[in-house]
Amino acid sequence: MSATSRRTIRFTLNDQPVTAEVAPHWTLVDLLQRCFDLFGARESCAQGLCGCCTVVLDGKAVSGCLYLAALADGATIQTIEQSAQHLDPVQNAFIEAGAFQCGFCTPGFVLMTRQLLASNPDPSEDDIRHYLAGNLCRCGAYPQIIAAVKIAARNSRPASSS
Ligand code: FES
Ligand code: FES
Repeated sequence: MSATSRRTIRFTLNDQPVTAEVAPHWTLVDLLQRCFDLFGARESCAQGLCGCCTVVLDGKAVSGCLYLAALADGATIQTIEQSAQHLDPVQNAFIEAGAFQCGFCTPGFVLMTRQLLASNPDPSEDDIRHYLAGNLCRCGAYPQIIAAVKIAARNSRPASSS
């Protein structure tokens, strides 16, 4: 791929305006890893089936392994690294519940859990299972993950409603 075929895109990454030169075939995972050393969104299945590459783009979770980087021009992107310094209730709940083993799937689960709780602050277990059905954990930490989502939901609600 020649450098001349690259395109300049500008977008907001974890609250910072950034610019990058991207090749036409790059995905969001390529962009984040190659240009910004962000490895929280990682490729596993590369088919949109596992959720390990989850990135929040313009407020919606997308599969970073399938979304072309060039299409992110002008977008607002959030990755798990945005809250690396100050853990949020979801991340703390995953720690409290021990909801990971190798941790490869964890960023995707955390980002999707935030999305779930933003739209449904009090999800049932069926709601949780349904919403997270697109995220796979090869270590089989599902019981702890579901427990973590329940803890996060409880800790995210105002005290008067819990
Ligand atoms: S690596 Fe993107 S969904 Fe599996
Ligand atoms: S904790 Fe290892 S893949 Fe989920």
